[in-house]
Amino acid sequence: MKRKLVFFSGAGISAESGISTFRDSSGLWEHYNIEDVATPEAWNTNTDLVSDFYNQRRKQVIQSEPNSAHKLIATLENEFYVNVITQNIDDLHERAGSKNVLHLHGNIRLAKSSGPKQEEKFYPIDGWELTVNDKCTEGFRLRPHVVWFGEQVPALNDAAKIIQEADILVVIGTSLQVYPAAGLVHLAPDNCKCYVIDPNVDDFEIPSNFVNIKSKASDGMRELIKRILD
Ligand code: APR
Repeated sequence: MKRKLVFFSGAGISAESGISTFRDSSGLWEHYNIEDVATPEAWNTNTDLVSDFYNQRRKQVIQSEPNSAHKLIATLENEFYVNVITQNIDDLHERAGSKNVLHLHGNIRLAKSSGPKQEEKFYPIDGWELTVNDKCTEGFRLRPHVVWFGEQVPALNDAAKIIQEADILVVIGTSLQVYPAAGLVHLAPDNCKCYVIDPNVDDFEIPSNFVNIKSKASDGMRELIKRILD
């Protein structure tokens, strides 16, 4: 029976693909105010600015490639039953070959209706740009499938169940600053082996049972594989 290996990833895993993180120096939130581009209120008051913000990020994602950390996670599906729970809205895990990816904060390659009471129906976005003319089947403007600050995290319970059954949990490339997502790291079962991969791991709070791998994602994944395959 393959052991259950769960990755909980954040923006840091995509840093080596050239996609900026949020809270590192020169991170995204140093250049934009969250309330201007990542809240439902921002969408309602300045729709074109918000849509353009995500169009620019989608363009960067399309022009980026998965790095060796994404690829190593995908290859581990040969040895383990792997689930990836990501806070990232890029699709680099999928493009690296991971089969079981759960996006807690949405997927920038998909759009959904901005209308009221619209069921969770997603529309693939062809290319990088979502325009004012892109409408849902009910005629409402399409918005990025991104969970904005203040919105519910629909996949949270599914993510919790996955972590509660993990044999190995690996937290990689997240500052664990954003809840409720960050609270997931406390749900690993007692017999679960837990690791954290992050160059700044000494700077943040993580449960004491986690083994720290102070490294960027690509090197940290190579170190992790040595440990879990031994
Ligand atoms: N390899 C691994 N980790 C890295 C690398 C790297 N090359 N470079 C930076 N990091 C680490 C940083 O040390 C930091 O701990 O990645 C983490 C990035 O943290 P954040 O920028 O806060 O990103 P994240 O934790 O994913 O943010 C969570 O906040 O803004 C919201 O919805 C957004 O999903 C996002 C959430």
